[in-house]
Amino acid sequence: MIRPAFSCRKKIIQKKALLIAFSLFISAPVFAKRQEPLSSWLYREKTVAVKRMFANISPKGGAVGAVAASPSRKNPNYWYHWVRDAAITMNEIVYRLDGIETPEERQIETQMLKNYAAFSRLNQKSKAKTGLGEPKFNMNGTPFNGAWARPQNDGPALRAITLLHWARQLKSQSHKKELNAIYNSKAPQNSVIGADMDYVSTHWKQPCYDLWEESFGFHFFTQMLERKALLAGAKLSQESGNFQRALFYKNEAKSLEVEIEKHWNSGRGYITVTVDQSNMRYKNSGLDSSVILGVLMGNTRDGFFAPEDDRVLDTALALENAFRRIYPINHGRKSIGIAIGRYPEDRYNGTDVFAPDNGNPWVLSTEAFSQFYSTLASDYSKKGLIALTPRNLPFFKSLPLKRGDAASLKVGETIRNSDPLFQSLISALRKKGDGFMEVVRRYANSDGTMSEQIDRKTGRMVSAANLTWNYAGFLSQDRARR
Ligand code: NOJ
Ligand code: NOJ
Repeated sequence: MIRPAFSCRKKIIQKKALLIAFSLFISAPVFAKRQEPLSSWLYREKTVAVKRMFANISPKGGAVGAVAASPSRKNPNYWYHWVRDAAITMNEIVYRLDGIETPEERQIETQMLKNYAAFSRLNQKSKAKTGLGEPKFNMNGTPFNGAWARPQNDGPALRAITLLHWARQLKSQSHKKELNAIYNSKAPQNSVIGADMDYVSTHWKQPCYDLWEESFGFHFFTQMLERKALLAGAKLSQESGNFQRALFYKNEAKSLEVEIEKHWNSGRGYITVTVDQSNMRYKNSGLDSSVILGVLMGNTRDGFFAPEDDRVLDTALALENAFRRIYPINHGRKSIGIAIGRYPEDRYNGTDVFAPDNGNPWVLSTEAFSQFYSTLASDYSKKGLIALTPRNLPFFKSLPLKRGDAASLKVGETIRNSDPLFQSLISALRKKGDGFMEVVRRYANSDGTMSEQIDRKTGRMVSAANLTWNYAGFLSQDRARR
């Protein structure tokens, strides 16, 4: 049949109208999202983060005290208690306890910690393949015996840090009974904190798998956390009269510092992730956002690889440049923040298919960058001055500053808080921090839920849904921002 030309035209017009209507329909929520000020979205998102995080703590179908990494049971199956993820999550509960107002809420969240501590003690006592170095447990608390990258020694360090954090709080509130349940000062090895301290203090010299469960060697992230655990453990031991132990932990921390220094690569101009890496030949730039995570989570506020360390600033800049370049969703955007991944050579996209250029940006890494910038803003504010050096100048020049301000930054100058430029720098740091949360908001689901990864090309949420760490990461970022 021959169609009259005009009906064909009509069809095209109809098609066009449909297309316009459709694109309006899909861009409408995006538009609505953009309209809302970031602070208001963050405020709403916090409720989602708390709710979804709680949902994965002692969830139905798991033992009391277990923390699921994500409710996802396949592609990927994250229905496990990962020692690392759980510790990072429960540390946020400890922070929350400081600000909780109602006795009911306090009781609920204290119980969560008690359950977590008891569950962790069972994990420690179970016959797991690598003992305390075991990265994950089944949700019923039995050891996971399948093939896996083990041991991962950041686990016991993180768990000790969380429980030591809680112990400090209990101590300051004279909650003796609860404190004794997690730390036995007469026989430390018989308590959850003491057992982790024994492990950390005797295993930091050994190589292990990294937090991404892939590379084998000595990792900046793992070592920074081991150091923090040793120092916090030394403090508690000292206060409990275990002077010898305290001294031992302190000395081990000192020796460990020498090893951590080895990650700085002056030739490359950044802190490299792993020393003596014995596998993964394709992972060779040494750039990895876990260095920033290590700086944040391993922060002992004594200046050691502190956020404002020039070497850390350079590393952050190098990471941003790499991730801006490799992820299509970061291209052609004028936005201040970008989507950040684990490391440039990453091949894991949440499925079994491992291929180059498969790796995606991660929500938790992008949140960490936001936290990093907010932390810098408040640390420099407290310090009251910013000293510009040959190493950190490119970092400060890269901030979202007015052109004149950027041009006036000179090596050798110290900008004091009486100078208006100081305030410009602080607000640029804050702006940058917000920029990363703008990115998180752009790709989060419209109901505020978040999966592990952001597809590097489409920006869609992919891999494990409702990753617990995303929500804990959101809360860490929120603390730093406030
Ligand atoms: C699962 C791990 O959780 C992930 O971090 C890793 O990239 C893949 N396995 C591949 O080893
Ligand atoms: C994969 C990540 O690489 C690892 O760090 C994490 O512990 C697990 N997923 C579980 O979330």
